[in-house]
Amino acid sequence: MMMLKGWGLCLLLIGVTSGGKRPPYKYIGDDNFTMEDEKYCPEAIDSVIFDREVEWDIEDRANKTCPPEFMLTKSSIPGGGQGIFATVNIPAGVWLGPYDGERVYQYRKVRLDAEYAFKVKVNSHVYMYIDAWNPRTSNWIRYINAALDMVQQNVEFLQCYDKIYYHTIKPIPAGTEVLVFYGHGYVFANHKIDMYSYCKWYNGTFYQSIDSNFICDRIKTKRQLTCDIPL
Ligand SMILES: *[C@@H]1O[C@H](CO)[C@@H](O)[C@H](O)[C@H]1NC(C)=O
Ligand SMILES: *[C@@H]1O[C@H](CO)[C@@H](O)[C@H](O)[C@H]1NC(C)=O
Ligand SMILES: *[C@@H]1O[C@H](CO)[C@@H](O)[C@H](O)[C@H]1NC(C)=O
Repeated sequence: MMMLKGWGLCLLLIGVTSGGKRPPYKYIGDDNFTMEDEKYCPEAIDSVIFDREVEWDIEDRANKTCPPEFMLTKSSIPGGGQGIFATVNIPAGVWLGPYDGERVYQYRKVRLDAEYAFKVKVNSHVYMYIDAWNPRTSNWIRYINAALDMVQQNVEFLQCYDKIYYHTIKPIPAGTEVLVFYGHGYVFANHKIDMYSYCKWYNGTFYQSIDSNFICDRIKTKRQLTCDIPL
């Protein structure tokens, strides 16, 4: 089974507002993401937590790039292996990353069933994959686990040109694991959690996020999903 990070949204999303600072989110579905139309990039006023600078292709590089505001340790997710935890209180709206790895231009060269590969799209077409399979040639973002439900999720990923940043969607108190939503396909493939379970606590007032907020909103309003969970 192949399950790429960033897969899973196949619905239309129009006009979820982001609270004024950025133009309204205007996704037209994961499959139709066009970088030319919308880019989600940190602005000068945004706070970005950059990686520690570490040479490329050295032992354990991914962990070594972890900035002091975070640490790699045992995940709170059952079977999650290691995960990333905040060591200090991180506010909402902070940018992390970008996700680093080997740039791969052919799907068949993506390693290990794409477990660590992110799709980067241009004009709705996959332009390349950022494959963080190898800890020698990737960064700490690869260790961020998928949330098991929407209440846990505290970051989302956004594509800025050919980079993928993570963005905190609510404050992350020190000692809390950083958890993201990689798309319903990923959550189902890795944790056998369907979107109805993922969204069970959703009440429409959590925070502004793109994928999960949108999908949960659709489920909540009982509007039919236009695609099945891709397996
Ligand atoms: C993507 O856009 C094309 C052309 O506008 C449209 O035909 C197609 O249905 C869209 N796909 C999705 C998943 O929205
Ligand atoms: C990650 O690297 C730090 C040093 O930067 C080290 O203290 C820690 O033990 C490493 N953690 C793991 C799980 O390898
Ligand atoms: C929605 O859920 C959140 C988190 O559980 C809670 O803090 C908030 O009060 C709820 N809002 C409503 C309107 O129920």
